[in-house]
Amino acid sequence: MNRVRVRQHVNPLGIRYQTPINAVDWGNIYVDKSQPLLLDIGCARGQFLIEMAQLEPECNFLGLEIREPLVEAANKTRSELGLTNLHYIFCNANNSLKPILCSLPAGVLQRVTIQFPDPWFKNRHAKRRVAQPELVAELADYLAPGGTVFLQSDVKFVEEEMCERFEENPNFHRQSKEWLAENPLPVATERELFTLGKNEPVYRAVFEKAAV
Ligand SMILES: C[S@@+](CC[C@H](N)C(=O)[O-])C[C@H]1O[C@@H](n2cnc3c(N)ncnc32)[C@H](O)[C@@H]1O
Repeated sequence: MNRVRVRQHVNPLGIRYQTPINAVDWGNIYVDKSQPLLLDIGCARGQFLIEMAQLEPECNFLGLEIREPLVEAANKTRSELGLTNLHYIFCNANNSLKPILCSLPAGVLQRVTIQFPDPWFKNRHAKRRVAQPELVAELADYLAPGGTVFLQSDVKFVEEEMCERFEENPNFHRQSKEWLAENPLPVATERELFTLGKNEPVYRAVFEKAAV
Protein backbone atom coordinates (compact mmCIF):
# COMPACT_ATOMS: atom_id res chain seq x y z
CA MET A 1 0.00 0.00 0.00
CA ASN A 2 1.26 3.53 -0.80
CA ARG A 3 1.16 5.33 2.60
CA VAL A 4 0.78 9.11 2.60
CA ARG A 5 0.45 11.48 5.55
CA VAL A 6 -2.74 13.55 5.55
CA ARG A 7 -4.86 15.77 7.77
CA GLN A 8 -6.99 13.70 10.10
CA HIS A 9 -10.28 15.47 9.34
CA VAL A 10 -11.65 17.50 6.48
CA ASN A 11 -14.70 19.71 6.92
CA PRO A 12 -17.00 18.75 4.01
CA LEU A 13 -18.76 22.12 4.34
CA GLY A 14 -15.47 23.95 3.60
CA ILE A 15 -15.39 26.12 0.46
CA ARG A 16 -12.91 23.80 -1.31
CA TYR A 17 -15.44 20.94 -1.24
CA GLN A 18 -18.57 22.74 -2.45
CA THR A 19 -18.17 22.12 -6.20
CA PRO A 20 -19.61 18.78 -7.33
CA ILE A 21 -17.35 16.75 -9.59
CA ASN A 22 -18.05 16.48 -13.32
CA ALA A 23 -19.94 13.50 -14.72
CA VAL A 24 -17.64 10.47 -14.83
CA ASP A 25 -16.55 8.92 -18.12
CA TRP A 26 -16.55 5.23 -17.20
CA GLY A 27 -15.05 4.23 -20.58
CA ASN A 28 -11.47 3.76 -19.33
CA ILE A 29 -12.22 2.89 -15.71
CA TYR A 30 -13.54 -0.66 -15.50
CA VAL A 31 -12.86 -3.45 -17.97
CA ASP A 32 -16.56 -4.38 -17.76
CA LYS A 33 -18.74 -1.55 -16.46
CA SER A 34 -21.86 -3.75 -16.51
CA GLN A 35 -20.62 -5.81 -13.52
CA PRO A 36 -22.45 -5.32 -10.18
CA LEU A 37 -20.97 -2.35 -8.30
CA LEU A 38 -20.16 -1.91 -4.60
CA LEU A 39 -19.82 1.76 -3.57
CA ASP A 40 -17.83 2.53 -0.39
CA ILE A 41 -18.46 6.07 0.91
CA GLY A 42 -15.55 7.48 2.93
CA CYS A 43 -13.06 4.78 1.95
CA ALA A 44 -9.98 6.55 3.40
CA ARG A 45 -6.87 4.59 2.25
CA GLY A 46 -9.04 2.08 0.41
CA GLN A 47 -7.58 -1.10 1.86
CA PHE A 48 -11.03 -2.67 2.36
CA LEU A 49 -11.79 -2.28 -1.36
CA ILE A 50 -8.38 -3.57 -2.45
CA GLU A 51 -9.10 -6.83 -0.64
CA MET A 52 -12.74 -7.00 -1.78
CA ALA A 53 -11.79 -6.39 -5.42
CA GLN A 54 -9.42 -9.34 -5.34
CA LEU A 55 -11.92 -11.61 -3.56
CA GLU A 56 -14.79 -10.74 -5.94
CA PRO A 57 -13.41 -10.16 -9.46
CA GLU A 58 -16.93 -10.56 -10.89
CA CYS A 59 -17.92 -7.24 -9.23
CA ASN A 60 -16.70 -3.65 -9.61
CA PHE A 61 -15.69 -1.52 -6.61
CA LEU A 62 -15.76 2.26 -6.22
CA GLY A 63 -14.41 4.24 -3.27
CA LEU A 64 -15.30 7.88 -2.60
CA GLU A 65 -13.00 9.90 -0.38
CA ILE A 66 -12.71 13.62 0.44
CA ARG A 67 -8.96 13.58 1.23
CA GLU A 68 -7.32 13.82 -2.19
CA PRO A 69 -3.82 12.45 -1.35
CA LEU A 70 -5.43 9.22 -0.09
CA VAL A 71 -7.29 8.80 -3.37
CA GLU A 72 -4.13 9.37 -5.43
CA ALA A 73 -2.22 6.81 -3.35
CA ALA A 74 -5.08 4.28 -3.49
CA ASN A 75 -5.40 4.53 -7.29
CA LYS A 76 -1.61 4.12 -7.56
CA THR A 77 -1.74 0.93 -5.47
CA ARG A 78 -4.71 -0.31 -7.54
CA SER A 79 -2.69 0.21 -10.76
CA GLU A 80 0.41 -1.46 -9.33
CA LEU A 81 -1.73 -4.49 -8.46
CA GLY A 82 -3.27 -4.49 -11.95
CA LEU A 83 -6.85 -4.51 -10.62
CA THR A 84 -9.30 -3.59 -13.39
CA ASN A 85 -12.46 -3.74 -11.24
CA LEU A 86 -11.49 -1.05 -8.72
CA HIS A 87 -11.44 2.75 -8.78
CA TYR A 88 -11.30 5.62 -6.29
CA ILE A 89 -12.71 9.13 -6.76
CA PHE A 90 -11.75 12.27 -4.84
CA CYS A 91 -15.02 14.06 -4.05
CA ASN A 92 -17.41 15.24 -1.40
CA ALA A 93 -19.98 12.43 -1.37
CA ASN A 94 -22.57 14.91 -0.13
CA ASN A 95 -22.67 16.81 -3.41
CA SER A 96 -21.16 14.46 -5.99
CA LEU A 97 -23.16 11.25 -5.83
CA LYS A 98 -25.47 12.26 -8.66
CA PRO A 99 -22.81 13.03 -11.33
CA ILE A 100 -21.09 9.78 -10.39
CA LEU A 101 -24.13 7.50 -10.31
CA CYS A 102 -26.23 8.99 -13.13
CA SER A 103 -23.66 7.94 -15.73
CA LEU A 104 -23.59 4.27 -14.67
CA PRO A 105 -25.62 1.60 -16.44
CA ALA A 106 -29.02 1.28 -14.72
CA GLY A 107 -29.17 -1.41 -12.03
CA VAL A 108 -25.42 -1.91 -11.53
CA LEU A 109 -25.29 -0.27 -8.08
CA GLN A 110 -26.11 -3.24 -5.86
CA ARG A 111 -24.26 -2.61 -2.59
CA VAL A 112 -23.32 0.53 -0.64
CA THR A 113 -21.16 0.67 2.48
CA ILE A 114 -20.72 3.56 4.93
CA GLN A 115 -18.23 2.34 7.52
CA PHE A 116 -17.02 4.26 10.55
CA PRO A 117 -17.89 7.71 9.16
CA ASP A 118 -16.33 10.74 10.86
CA PRO A 119 -18.53 11.21 13.96
CA TRP A 120 -18.41 15.03 14.31
CA PHE A 121 -19.39 14.76 17.98
CA LYS A 122 -20.64 18.32 18.52
CA ASN A 123 -24.29 19.07 17.71
CA ARG A 124 -23.29 22.21 15.84
CA HIS A 125 -21.23 20.02 13.49
CA ALA A 126 -24.12 17.62 12.71
CA LYS A 127 -24.37 18.89 9.12
CA ARG A 128 -20.81 17.68 8.50
CA ARG A 129 -21.84 14.04 9.04
CA VAL A 130 -21.99 12.14 5.78
CA ALA A 131 -25.38 10.37 6.14
CA GLN A 132 -27.62 13.36 5.37
CA PRO A 133 -31.23 12.84 4.12
CA GLU A 134 -30.26 14.07 0.62
CA LEU A 135 -27.52 11.43 0.34
CA VAL A 136 -29.96 8.72 1.44
CA ALA A 137 -32.49 9.92 -1.19
CA GLU A 138 -29.84 9.80 -3.94
CA LEU A 139 -28.83 6.29 -2.95
CA ALA A 140 -32.51 5.30 -3.10
CA ASP A 141 -32.68 6.72 -6.65
CA TYR A 142 -29.70 4.76 -7.96
CA LEU A 143 -29.54 1.56 -5.94
CA ALA A 144 -30.94 -1.48 -7.74
CA PRO A 145 -34.18 -2.92 -6.28
CA GLY A 146 -33.20 -5.40 -3.56
CA GLY A 147 -29.79 -3.70 -3.26
CA THR A 148 -28.29 -3.25 0.21
CA VAL A 149 -26.67 -0.56 2.34
CA PHE A 150 -24.31 -1.72 5.09
CA LEU A 151 -23.71 0.76 7.91
CA GLN A 152 -21.26 0.33 10.75
CA SER A 153 -19.66 2.52 13.40
CA ASP A 154 -17.93 2.31 16.75
CA VAL A 155 -19.91 5.37 17.90
CA LYS A 156 -23.40 4.28 18.91
CA PHE A 157 -25.17 7.61 18.41
CA VAL A 158 -23.64 7.95 14.93
CA GLU A 159 -24.87 4.49 13.95
CA GLU A 160 -28.31 5.22 15.44
CA GLU A 161 -28.52 8.50 13.54
CA MET A 162 -27.50 6.83 10.27
CA CYS A 163 -30.17 4.17 10.82
CA GLU A 164 -32.78 6.89 11.48
CA ARG A 165 -31.88 8.59 8.18
CA PHE A 166 -32.47 5.32 6.27
CA GLU A 167 -35.59 4.42 8.28
CA GLU A 168 -37.10 7.82 7.40
CA ASN A 169 -36.78 7.05 3.70
CA PRO A 170 -39.72 4.87 2.52
CA ASN A 171 -37.55 3.13 -0.08
CA PHE A 172 -35.51 1.33 2.57
CA HIS A 173 -36.27 -1.25 5.18
CA ARG A 174 -33.93 -2.52 7.88
CA GLN A 175 -33.19 -6.23 7.68
CA SER A 176 -33.00 -6.75 11.45
CA LYS A 177 -33.90 -4.48 14.36
CA GLU A 178 -31.00 -5.94 16.37
CA TRP A 179 -27.40 -4.82 15.86
CA LEU A 180 -25.60 -7.42 13.75
CA ALA A 181 -23.10 -9.38 15.84
CA GLU A 182 -20.92 -10.10 12.81
CA ASN A 183 -19.85 -8.17 9.75
CA PRO A 184 -21.70 -9.77 6.79
CA LEU A 185 -18.81 -8.83 4.46
CA PRO A 186 -15.66 -10.95 4.22
CA VAL A 187 -13.26 -8.02 4.80
CA ALA A 188 -12.93 -5.68 7.80
CA THR A 189 -11.98 -2.02 7.33
CA GLU A 190 -8.90 -0.48 8.95
CA ARG A 191 -11.06 1.32 11.52
CA GLU A 192 -12.98 -1.87 12.26
CA LEU A 193 -9.76 -3.82 12.90
CA PHE A 194 -8.53 -0.99 15.16
CA THR A 195 -11.81 -1.00 17.15
CA LEU A 196 -11.98 -4.77 17.47
CA GLY A 197 -8.31 -4.79 18.48
CA LYS A 198 -9.25 -2.67 21.50
CA ASN A 199 -12.16 -5.04 22.30
CA GLU A 200 -14.63 -2.21 21.79
CA PRO A 201 -18.13 -2.72 20.32
CA VAL A 202 -19.09 -2.17 16.71
CA TYR A 203 -22.71 -1.29 15.82
CA ARG A 204 -23.86 -2.68 12.47
CA ALA A 205 -27.06 -2.67 10.40
CA VAL A 206 -28.13 -3.58 6.86
CA PHE A 207 -30.87 -1.79 4.92
CA GLU A 208 -32.44 -3.12 1.75
CA LYS A 209 -34.01 -1.11 -1.03
CA ALA A 210 -37.56 -2.26 -1.72
CA ALA A 211 -37.95 -4.36 -4.85
CA VAL A 212 -40.36 -2.74 -7.38
C1 LIG B 1 -13.09 7.53 10.15
S1 LIG B 1 -12.71 7.33 8.46
C2 LIG B 1 -13.17 5.63 8.15
C3 LIG B 1 -12.48 5.07 6.96
C4 LIG B 1 -12.89 3.64 6.56
N1 LIG B 1 -14.25 3.61 6.08
C5 LIG B 1 -12.70 2.66 7.68
O1 LIG B 1 -13.70 2.15 8.19
O2 LIG B 1 -11.53 2.38 8.03
C6 LIG B 1 -13.98 8.23 7.58
C7 LIG B 1 -13.55 8.63 6.18
O3 LIG B 1 -14.61 9.31 5.51
C8 LIG B 1 -14.07 10.40 4.77
N2 LIG B 1 -15.15 11.38 4.53
C9 LIG B 1 -15.73 12.16 5.47
N3 LIG B 1 -16.69 12.93 4.92
C10 LIG B 1 -16.71 12.63 3.59
C11 LIG B 1 -17.47 13.11 2.49
N4 LIG B 1 -18.42 14.04 2.64
N5 LIG B 1 -17.22 12.58 1.26
C12 LIG B 1 -16.26 11.64 1.09
N6 LIG B 1 -15.50 11.15 2.10
C13 LIG B 1 -15.72 11.64 3.34
C14 LIG B 1 -12.95 10.91 5.67
O4 LIG B 1 -12.00 11.72 5.01
C15 LIG B 1 -12.37 9.60 6.19
O5 LIG B 1 -11.36 9.10 5.34
